[in-house]
Amino acid sequence: MKDFDPFLMLDAFDSRNPGDYAAGFPWHPHRGIETVTYLIAGNIEHKDSLGNTGNIRDGSCQWMTAGCGILHQEMPLPSPRMFGTQLWINLPREHKMTAPAYNDISPEAIVKVRENGAVVHVISGHYKELQAPMQGHFVKAVYLDVELEPEKEWSLASPSDHTVFLYILQGSLRIGGNTYAAKRAVLFTPGDSVSVTAGKDAARFLYFSAKPLHEPVAWSGSIVMNTREELKQAFSELDKGTFIQEGRKISEIHL
Ligand code: CO
Repeated sequence: MKDFDPFLMLDAFDSRNPGDYAAGFPWHPHRGIETVTYLIAGNIEHKDSLGNTGNIRDGSCQWMTAGCGILHQEMPLPSPRMFGTQLWINLPREHKMTAPAYNDISPEAIVKVRENGAVVHVISGHYKELQAPMQGHFVKAVYLDVELEPEKEWSLASPSDHTVFLYILQGSLRIGGNTYAAKRAVLFTPGDSVSVTAGKDAARFLYFSAKPLHEPVAWSGSIVMNTREELKQAFSELDKGTFIQEGRKISEIHL
């Protein structure tokens, strides 16, 4: 948790069998974090307790700011392939109780760059001179999806005070003399650049970078606060039915 700060969790899935994922994620609360669902392929139906509803489909990303509280369900629908990730990003203390918001990032809003042997999809933040429409409103995370041809090298400068990790979706990567297979995450030690080389098959990986928050973390289930007292407060509000602040408008931003 400390090493990956401000990232809390990465849930990755890749299945061609709807039986694997049909159970989905029925009604559950979130507070104090952002959940970023990126679907390379698939279809996830999303509903919240205030009646907001939508689908996350092939090539799109839902960046949800849970803020003070969201009660929702995320149900994957049968698809030829369900392939993507959900990332949890911590919210800074001063923004944990911000109003909830949905940022729907369409496939067109994900900037695509072709370079020597690589295709880089810029989901948020910037890549070299390019700025994505989504920058992150609280934690300014750089989120890239990189497709790399066999044996090609890819490198990127990164601020030395940022947490940087990547997750290998397909193929393998050579990094600093070691080889890492698909479905592995690699956390980088402090430095000012990263450099990776694809193995003999094409590789695809996600790259994450952001400045750590360096704040205390009190985490229970899908609620992440700074103190145990704030967690107790959240669970007591759930018990009493006052968790969702219904008067508060949820903003929806379409990118
Ligand atoms: Co959720």
